[in-house]
Amino acid sequence: MLTKLLKVDYLNPTNDIDKIKECANIIKLDGLVAFPTETVYGLGANAFSSNAIKKIYKAKGRPSDNPLIVHISNLEDLNLVVGSITQSAKLLMEAFWPGPLTLVLRKNKNIPMETSGGLDTIAVRLPLNNVAKMLIEESGPIAAPSANLSGKPSPTLAKHVIQDLNTKINAIIDAGACQFGLESTIVDVSNDTPCLLRPGSITISMVEKIVGKIDIDKSLHGKDFINESPKAPGMKYKHYSPNASITVVLGEESKVVKKIIELTKGNASHFNKVGILATDNTKIYYEDNGIVLSVGDRQKPNTIAYNLFRILREFDNYKVDHIFSEGFLNEGIESSVMNRLIKAAGYNIIYV
Ligand code: TXA
Ligand code: MG
Repeated sequence: MLTKLLKVDYLNPTNDIDKIKECANIIKLDGLVAFPTETVYGLGANAFSSNAIKKIYKAKGRPSDNPLIVHISNLEDLNLVVGSITQSAKLLMEAFWPGPLTLVLRKNKNIPMETSGGLDTIAVRLPLNNVAKMLIEESGPIAAPSANLSGKPSPTLAKHVIQDLNTKINAIIDAGACQFGLESTIVDVSNDTPCLLRPGSITISMVEKIVGKIDIDKSLHGKDFINESPKAPGMKYKHYSPNASITVVLGEESKVVKKIIELTKGNASHFNKVGILATDNTKIYYEDNGIVLSVGDRQKPNTIAYNLFRILREFDNYKVDHIFSEGFLNEGIESSVMNRLIKAAGYNIIYV
């Protein structure tokens, strides 16, 4: 199929309302449209149509038991998607919507089992990105996973969507780079105590300021805890991986740099072509030990979240066989970055 690429002006999306309406029509007719959100690009379809939802799983090569997030453009539409709203859900919506927070609640019977991956709960969020909001206003609730092939890093630019899904979907809305760069934080609020299922730009401490102490799903504690039924089914699948394999080196900054230099200088590694995932603060130390790319500034961890998926894809363009990556702190947004990075590395970590 021909995939139509439509550029929309992020700052003045009303100028491009015709293109947005065209895409909303595709969704109403059970087609697939990739669109920008403030987190990553999503691959959207009509949340109420099992026929349309099946196409998402097919285009991405996604296992059908991995449920989707439903995106709404206003709070009234929430009642079309969920069955009941808990008190903690209300508080978190007030605090963080529109924004990069997904809430898991009891599912409304209108939502087909294909959308919820067979679960009786449904993940829902109200995005901040204006282009996404305008699209959903025109089409109604949109179910959308990240718009990458299953297992690949999530797309933060339209060109990443083209790389993975060109000819497999009807249209892509290109409105530039995604503001946050990591997928939304997911909190299950369907029970009494909220439970963090996936960390993101909204951090645990931000959530706990609103609803008090929350549970952390045990799959987030490491690979030994990822059993056959983590609460977010997506957690058990291979994720975020570029073509190259990855080793993360974790510890005090100076020791990490020393270890990566030792692992990459001369013929130290048995890999043909090596990549080094560095930071603005450390990249000068690696000289020509490999393809050195900076993921951002340690003093501004948001920049690391913003760049991570793009940089992982860039290493593929350089055709490196293996990436040695610096690790990040286990706090704030850096812990969300680490959650993605250690999965991309298949939990291959060296502690120094
Ligand atoms: O930022 C985001 O969340 C992006 C943009 C496009 O909104 N979407 C996204 O979707 O990251 P996806 O499909 O790549 O990740 C959704 C995650 C999966 O790990 C899935 O298992 C989990 O959400 N999930 C969805 N519904 C769930 C439910 N009812 N209970 C538990 N986990 C659920
Ligand atoms: Mg995804």
